[in-house]
Amino acid sequence: MQKTVLITGASKGIGKELALLFAENQCNLILTARSGDRLELLKEQLESRYGISVYPVVKDLSRPGAAGELFREVKEKGLDVDYLINNAGFGDYGSFADTPWERYEEMITLNITSLTHLTHLFVQEWKGRKRGRILNLSSTAAFQPGPMMAVYFATKAFVLHLSEAVGNELKKDHITVTTLCPGPTSTYFGEVSKMNASQLVRNVKIADAREVAELGFKAMMKGKSMIIHGTMNKLAPFGIRFLPRKWVTRLSAKVMRRYK
Ligand SMILES: NC(=O)c1ccc[n+]([C@@H]2O[C@H](COP(=O)([O-])OP(=O)(O)OC[C@H]3O[C@@H](n4cnc5c(N)ncnc54)[C@H](OP(=O)(O)O)[C@@H]3O)[C@@H](O)[C@H]2O)c1
Repeated sequence: MQKTVLITGASKGIGKELALLFAENQCNLILTARSGDRLELLKEQLESRYGISVYPVVKDLSRPGAAGELFREVKEKGLDVDYLINNAGFGDYGSFADTPWERYEEMITLNITSLTHLTHLFVQEWKGRKRGRILNLSSTAAFQPGPMMAVYFATKAFVLHLSEAVGNELKKDHITVTTLCPGPTSTYFGEVSKMNASQLVRNVKIADAREVAELGFKAMMKGKSMIIHGTMNKLAPFGIRFLPRKWVTRLSAKVMRRYK
C-alpha cells in the first residue's frame, strides 16, 4: 500500500530534496511551508511525473498553535500519515543581546515548539497501531554551544536530545525517531541565517542538499537513532568529548567569529 509522508519546510533546500526522494519512492506527500506558490509547483510536477498525490498546506509554523492547526487540517483531509519529517527551521547570525526578541521567539516556536508538538500529536496516534517513522532535522550545531548563533545552536541541541529520548521510549511501540545532523549545506539557510558572514562557512566544505537528504532518508528507513553528514563533521563531536567545556565554547567562538 502507498505510504504518506508529511514534510515541514518542503518548499526549498533539504526539505524539497526529501520531498523529491519520497516521490521517487512512490509515497504520497503532504508538503507544508509558507510559500504556497512553490508548493503548488511541486504538486504539479510530482503528481504528473510519479503518479502520486501531493497535498500542499500553507502554514507559518513559527506562530503559536500552528502545529495543532496543521495536524487538524491533515485529519480533516482524511489523510493517514506514515512518516513525519520535521525539517522546517532557521537560524540567525548575530550577537545574542543585539538580536530582537521577536526573532528568537519565532525561531524557538518553529525549531522547538512546532517540532515537539507535531511529534507528540503523531506518536499519540501511532502508539496504538505500533508503527510510524519520524525524521527530525538537527545539526552539527547540536554538539556544542555556538556564540553568535547561541539560540539556534541551543534549539538544535534540544532537537537531538528530545529525539533520542523519545526514540528510546517508543522502541517498544515500533515507532522510530531518527535525528539528522548536517553541517553547512548548500540551501537558502546561509542567506536566511546570515551565517555566510562567519568564519565557519569559509573553512568547511559545503555539502550538497540532495546528498544530505539521501543520508537522512536511508537512516530513517533503517530506524537509526542519529546520523551525522560528512567525515569531518562526525569527528568533531567525538573529539570535543575529551576537552573541558570552557575550551569547547572558546573554540566554537573562534569558528563562529565574523570575517566580513
Ligand atoms: N543548510 C544548512 O547549512 C543546515 C545545516 C544544519 C541543519 N540545517 C537544518 O536543516 C533544516 C532545513 O533547512 P535548509 O538548509 O533546507 O534551509 P532553507 O533552504 O532555508 O529551507 C527551510 C525550509 O523551511 C521552511 N520554513 C522556514 N520558516 C518557516 C516557517 N516559519 N513556517 C513554515 N516553514 C518554514 C522554508 O519554506 P518557506 O520559506 O516557504 O516557509 C523552507 O522550505 C533546518 O531545520 C535547518 O536548521 C541546515
